[in-house]
Amino acid sequence: MKALEFQNVSFSYGDGAFAIENLNFSVEEGEFVAVLGHNGSGKSTLARLSDGLLTLDKGEIRCFGIPLNEKNLLTIRKDLGIVFQNPDSQAVASIVEDDVAFGPENIGLSREEIGKRIDFALRATGMEEFRRSMLSRLSGGQKQRAAIAGVLALKPRMMILDEATAMLDPKGRREIVEVVKKLNEEEGITVLMITHFMEEAMLCGRAVVMNRGEIVMQGTPSEIFERHEELLTFGLALPRIGVICKRLREGGLNVPDVLDPEELAKEIASCVS
Ligand SMILES: Nc1ncnc2c1ncn2[C@@H]1O[C@H](COP(=O)(O)OP(=O)(O)OP(=O)(O)O)[C@@H](O)[C@H]1O
Ligand SMILES: [Mg+2]
Repeated sequence: MKALEFQNVSFSYGDGAFAIENLNFSVEEGEFVAVLGHNGSGKSTLARLSDGLLTLDKGEIRCFGIPLNEKNLLTIRKDLGIVFQNPDSQAVASIVEDDVAFGPENIGLSREEIGKRIDFALRATGMEEFRRSMLSRLSGGQKQRAAIAGVLALKPRMMILDEATAMLDPKGRREIVEVVKKLNEEEGITVLMITHFMEEAMLCGRAVVMNRGEIVMQGTPSEIFERHEELLTFGLALPRIGVICKRLREGGLNVPDVLDPEELAKEIASCVS
């Protein structure tokens, strides 16, 4: 089953240029896909089209087999949750559990079911201990995990994260990526993660690279990062840590593709000891 399917999709903001042009793209149910691309390559437009926040000019989008149109919009939004860049702009209440409850309350679930959904969402995002905390007192990573919990409480089958880690420090970024990976592996939620942090893409099953509204590269993260020169032409580069790993491998050290600085430090320590 395809979770998301774009068929010959084009979209323009009305300025004559296509932000997305004749895009064919699909995500299988259960996949964890990263979308990479330099500024203005069309990543957010792709996310907003998927959720019906923007309306396409040409082509067709299907979400879990259902064509995206005005009539099906609410059905599709039950299946598809989106997390955006700024955790502050997504919050609707000041206390974590009220914020998480907002979505389930809005779709008219029973008190009991809302309680269950909050428990599930807070547990899955590791936010139980912050249940009664003020959102304003949390770190960026914790706020963003609360935002993910809010989306999760609606039990989506698929989540799109549009640079959800962009405003976070490295620790916050790691928290989010770990939570999302767990949701994909343990809850079977299909994930499309838009990111400009190349190391985050390493954790996905598949990565696609966008350039000028088109998909120009796709494959496993290792396959993509091996095509280093080509990445450069699309304004992307291996992360510094990736360059270090690559050089170490070229120099004969058995360093895997793990692009996490702490892991790398451990690997190097084990290589030289
Ligand atoms: N609201 C808008 N009105 C007009 N043009 C827009 C609007 N939003 C985006 N664009 C244009 O559409 C193209 C794609 O933009 P989009 O925001 O999808 O890119 P992006 O890959 O998400 O970029 P970033 O990495 O900066 O988030 C760009 O040329 C951009 O200037
Ligand atoms: Mg964007």
